[in-house]
Amino acid sequence: MTNPAPTQDQLKALVAEAALAHVPSGQVIGVGTGSTVDLFIDALAARVAAGSLVAAGAVSSSERSTQRLQRHGIAVVEASTVERLPVYVDGADEIDHQGHMIKGGGAALTREKIVADLAERFVCIADGSKLVEVLGRYPLPVEVVAMAVPQLVRRFAALGGRAVLRAGVLTDNGHPLLDVHGLSIHDPAAMEAEINQWPGVVTVGIFARHRAQVCLLGTLQGVRTLVF
Ligand code: 5RP
Repeated sequence: MTNPAPTQDQLKALVAEAALAHVPSGQVIGVGTGSTVDLFIDALAARVAAGSLVAAGAVSSSERSTQRLQRHGIAVVEASTVERLPVYVDGADEIDHQGHMIKGGGAALTREKIVADLAERFVCIADGSKLVEVLGRYPLPVEVVAMAVPQLVRRFAALGGRAVLRAGVLTDNGHPLLDVHGLSIHDPAAMEAEINQWPGVVTVGIFARHRAQVCLLGTLQGVRTLVF
């Protein structure tokens, strides 16, 4: 009898475990947000409990991850007290073959970019379905200031995108989010820079300047490592 194909959750668990190889013992690390990162936090805690890794603490990118880290007894360190992190581990909604990502499906994009900015190395963990040729099939999350929403909707329309307010969601910073459908992001760095100039944009979910240096992808054949 052949084994059934692994589920998406099993693929996420596989890369969450594999990411531990990128975590230096005894140093504060950056921790992202999402279902894959939840599994990473669990794997990190198990490794610490087994005594094979010393956790000096984590800078967290969301209330969700903070709570999970603290439940496991891992100290959460304020980003404002840290000048540099050796590594930041986070998921992605899409990643291309150069390590550019769309992020923000979990509404944590602003803090994610702030923590990524502190890190020397971004290790992205994702199941294989997230790897794309061109970013944009996943609606682009953008954290915005509420009064700018109508003008930003018009600006995205001029780029060929349809921006939709994410219903019932405010970020940890108290802002609404737009999800922009229908963009084909062929030059992620240029589009990130352009959207960043628009008044009312807090953070755009294109991570080009803060792209991944390594991506661990969960595939049917096991963990595929992409180095950018
Ligand atoms: C949260 C994010 C997440 O990294 C992204 O949504 C992927 O999440 P998941 O691991 O649940 O697929 O950007 O803001």
